[in-house]
Amino acid sequence: MTNDSQPRTQWLGRWGFVLAATGSAVGLGNVWKFPYMTGEYGGGAFVLVYLACILAIGVPVMMTEIALGRRGRGSPIDAIRRVTAESKGASAWSLLGWMAMLCGFMILCFYVVVAGWSFSYLWKMLTGGLAGSSVDDMAAIFGANNANPFNLGFWSTLVTVATMVIVGKGVQAGIEKSVSWMMPGMVVMLVIMIVYGAFSGGFGEAVQFLFAFNAGSLSSEGMLAAMGHAFFTLSLASGAILTYGSYLPRHASIGRTTLSVAVADTLVALMAGLAIFPVIFANGMEPGSGPGLIFMSLPLAFQAMPMGTLFGVLFFVMLSMAALTSSISMVEATVSWLTDNKGISRRTASWGIGIVLWVISTLAMLSFNVGADWTLAGKHFFDWLDYLTSRWMMPLGGLGVALLAGFVLNSESVREELGLSPAVHALWLFMVRYVSPLGIVVIFLDALGIATLEFGVQWPWLLLALAVITLIGELASPRLMRTLSA
Ligand code: TRP
Repeated sequence: MTNDSQPRTQWLGRWGFVLAATGSAVGLGNVWKFPYMTGEYGGGAFVLVYLACILAIGVPVMMTEIALGRRGRGSPIDAIRRVTAESKGASAWSLLGWMAMLCGFMILCFYVVVAGWSFSYLWKMLTGGLAGSSVDDMAAIFGANNANPFNLGFWSTLVTVATMVIVGKGVQAGIEKSVSWMMPGMVVMLVIMIVYGAFSGGFGEAVQFLFAFNAGSLSSEGMLAAMGHAFFTLSLASGAILTYGSYLPRHASIGRTTLSVAVADTLVALMAGLAIFPVIFANGMEPGSGPGLIFMSLPLAFQAMPMGTLFGVLFFVMLSMAALTSSISMVEATVSWLTDNKGISRRTASWGIGIVLWVISTLAMLSFNVGADWTLAGKHFFDWLDYLTSRWMMPLGGLGVALLAGFVLNSESVREELGLSPAVHALWLFMVRYVSPLGIVVIFLDALGIATLEFGVQWPWLLLALAVITLIGELASPRLMRTLSA
């Protein structure tokens, strides 16, 4: 347990938290996962649901997590336990902290493999391994890169070691500084790619694909995927933001901070889409090509553009850095729990986690080669890690966080911690009590096939249901609060 007389580490600069949280949020999720999922789930409608989820679920849940972290001053488990105890809530709520910590770690186990792809493509760019390749060659190169477990394992091991070295050195030392130049760098690279794309012949089609709303193209599965991705991309319900919040100084504004992070994260994702899809369409590639999408498409653009090798190298440097500033945030919750509760040093904790991580991520890495046949219900171990975290654990964790803050916690302490203006506070409360939970539940029911949502047709009913539930909730909330916190 932390010693309360000894203040917890805090971010150094005024922008420390914003930088670190942005570093956590902006990562492979934005540049690698968002485009390939958009491609897989058919474009505009997926993007729209994703944006709606960021706004209606992601932003309120993020504010709540930061507030929980700052008030509880600890790892997700300790922070939630303390904050719930302060409001005389049931101790079982700390299970949310356990799930978050586990979820962050599970994500990390496949994230290092993808970050390894980024590093290996950086190496290929530097050594000319991608020069003069055709569209078909690109697919073959991606396949060959995966096929050799020693090659792929080398890169994921490199990422594992790099992550643990940074985490071992502590919060302030590396994170704030690297994010402050990496983020602008990433944006500049994306702008260059978008400008190139604008002249490549595929731009119109790309804009159409990303932003034209085609209701028929989105499945229930796609809606759940969009919601899960909103959690993933903001690093929610997996310990990262909550733990970073625990290092946030008292006076910082949670509302403004959250908005900056969410806006930056969303912009980078949309920019990545605008950078990648023109290349896809100009080269007649399939948008639904899956996880290899950016690795098979962007190198084609680097080949064709002036100074392409330089830009390609810079791009993969940025992407690899963005991956590292995210991967370190996934370990932070566990490290902070181990150092606070088990009395071990940050360095020992990070190496201990590193060893477990290395073993499990190696198993995930093998999904692409020797373990290609090791599937359960048609999914590899790598896919299972992604599926369980994005489709189940994060949405359920987010639901728990929203309900905890909306109905269990003492409203005075929440109000004090969030420090919002009365009108914004009321809006936040409305979101975490009704809109976010209902959104999550409806998307779940839809995906499970229990209820069907159709665009256009049933939205008015949904709004009506929301109004009714709100009314009932407001009338019953004192009783509900007593029940949930019993
Ligand atoms: N948000 C990161 C991305 O988009 C992924 C990430 C970083 C993350 N930290 C996390 C996801 C913690 C969940 C939990 O790449």
